[in-house]
Amino acid sequence: MHNILVTGGAGYIGSHTCVELLNSEYNIVVIDNYKNSWEESLKSVQKITGRIFKYYECDIKDSEKLEAIFKKHKINAVIHFAGLKSVAQSNIFPLDYYLNNVWGTINLCRIMKKFFVKKIVFSSSATVYGDSPEIPFKEDTKKGKLSSVYGKTKLMVEEILRDIKKSDNEWSISILRYFNPVGAHESGLIGENPKGIPNNLMPFISQVAADILPELTIFSDDYETPDGTCIRDYIHVVDLAKGHILALNKILINNTFDVYNLGSGVGHSVLELVSAFEKACLTTVKYKIGPRRSGDLPMLYADTTKAKKELCFCASSDIEKMCKDTFNWQNKNKSKYYKK
Ligand code: NAD
Ligand code: WQD
Repeated sequence: MHNILVTGGAGYIGSHTCVELLNSEYNIVVIDNYKNSWEESLKSVQKITGRIFKYYECDIKDSEKLEAIFKKHKINAVIHFAGLKSVAQSNIFPLDYYLNNVWGTINLCRIMKKFFVKKIVFSSSATVYGDSPEIPFKEDTKKGKLSSVYGKTKLMVEEILRDIKKSDNEWSISILRYFNPVGAHESGLIGENPKGIPNNLMPFISQVAADILPELTIFSDDYETPDGTCIRDYIHVVDLAKGHILALNKILINNTFDVYNLGSGVGHSVLELVSAFEKACLTTVKYKIGPRRSGDLPMLYADTTKAKKELCFCASSDIEKMCKDTFNWQNKNKSKYYKK
């Protein structure tokens, strides 16, 4: 049985992927510095799967600790989620973002190389396409201008991984560009737990529906889209997690360098998401229309042909299911939203 090191495994996408890894009979070792998560989510992963695994409080920048973990466990491959992800914060604290996301990944790869572990799945983002006008985005779409340091860190890491592969063909690498992950595990035991007031749409909607926040501000309805609000590609986090298993299976068998879009391939507007949430959760979401948010693109969604063809990837949950699972998690974990 393969041993997979999951960095950032206590986080939102990481914890859901840990569940799928354990359900797919992989062994896992998790590291996280809990900067944006809690150990509790790993206990929930054990509860959901009925499987025990080792996890460590460890920063990917901490070479000594990381080496000790590689020494202790025979790791076959790494799924690398650990990173800071706030677009707004990245522009305020660029050094923290470059240090954590870029240098952290370099450090991880150096230690992987030292222990002859040359297989990695990396969490990238649709944000690397920048403001490219070629919608839907294909993996080889010419990239536009990037407006955030966060996006630049993702693109830099993609380039670093590409160069590592060029220099040493023993590496097997899968870069996954996520679109808008939403939803939660059906059990309601793990989900997205944003610190403070959420930046992202789905947790904001769900906190309004749960009376934690008074109302949603929709960032403008004057875009050139059918209802004037922005269109995004929402993907259920469990579908996304399953995509990682497919990518992992491939890098373990083949010696490869791949880039895949992981989205649903379908665009939904902000108003569509609000109304789907109301319908699926039998609730109301109070909203007002506000000004545009700087840097928002009117429309983006994925062309998922490559992931479908090469990985047999299929995002099966619709937006109703995404809303339902989000609200279930929200209602079961209300107090957690005030924790940090
Ligand atoms: P998250 O913040 O919930 O998870 C990231 C985890 O990494 C957290 O548990 C955090 O504590 C940990 N971490 C951060 N820096 C670390 C470090 N130096 N050492 C060890 N652990 C560290 O975020 P998420 O939504 O689960 O995202 C996972 C990955 O996917 C991130 O790299 C993110 O940039 C990327 N991504 C996320 C989205 C999204 O919308 N959620 C979209 C595209 C890409
Ligand atoms: C979705 C839509 C907003 C909040 C971000 C990152 C991206 C990726 C995913 C990591 C937009 C509108 C939002 C609100 C609103 N993350 N909105 N009111 O901006 O598509 O992508 O998360 O890699 O890099 O940029 O997601 O959820 O913030 O916004 O009207 O209070 O909802 O304008 O159209 P986004 P989002």
